Amino acid sequence: MSGVEMMKAEKELAVLREKISGIDRRIVPLFLERMLLAQEVGEVKARHNIPVLNPEREREVVEQALSLADESLQEETAELMRTIIALSRGRQQKQHALLRSEKGEETEPNTVMKHIHVINGPNLNLLGSREPDKYGFETLEDINRQLAQTAMELGMRCEFFQSNVEGEIVTAIQNAAASGGVILNAGAYSHYSIAIRDAISAIPAPVIEVHMSNVHAREDFRHASAIAAVCRGSIAGFGADSYKLALYALAPCGAPVK
Ligand code: DQA
Repeated sequence: MSGVEMMKAEKELAVLREKISGIDRRIVPLFLERMLLAQEVGEVKARHNIPVLNPEREREVVEQALSLADESLQEETAELMRTIIALSRGRQQKQHALLRSEKGEETEPNTVMKHIHVINGPNLNLLGSREPDKYGFETLEDINRQLAQTAMELGMRCEFFQSNVEGEIVTAIQNAAASGGVILNAGAYSHYSIAIRDAISAIPAPVIEVHMSNVHAREDFRHASAIAAVCRGSIAGFGADSYKLALYALAPCGAPVK
């Protein structure tokens, strides 16, 4: 790290410290209470072999903290709470795995943070300016940012890839073979690419076909999918939320993984 980079990092750290120290002190006891509770709950769940994830309860905790935090600090508080929840969930999951292995039982697949590959095909790099009447005004970066946030809340993490090149999409699918799943919007390739279909068939990870627009309400050539039959399922027509719905379908507490 160069001297200039170091100074920049120190400055960023000072800004972050300032932000954190400004957060309403009333929410600190709530954090502590949550950590202790999580510990107890983790132990009970581990003993009874119950999955640790409960996104609904976690959403409640974030909302509770937001109602206590200062108006001006809502965004920072939400981010802080989500980070704390993700950390505490990770700890619970490790504890869960440890107790199970002590009992000589195999570790459940849902005790590891699921790694999801989000793969976008041709022209999706233009989201935001491309035919907004069909695809909205959000950029791919906006969508990916929201997806990363939702993934964290669900105990998953996403890796993002976009390419306009068919072969690169094939390689990205192959690279996701051992992952927790793939969210794939192959764009126009969805309608005719046998190479992408074969790549999906070749990997054990579940693949969810995604379209932002309702392809069945559009031109005839968009009604056919070359990939649907080899995907776990298809989601179309919910705009940016199509990606989020696919994430829920792959969540450890959601659809079973093949
Ligand atoms: C799309 C639908 C495809 O027909 C089209 O070629 C795209 C985007 C969608 O997200 O709605 O590029 O996959």
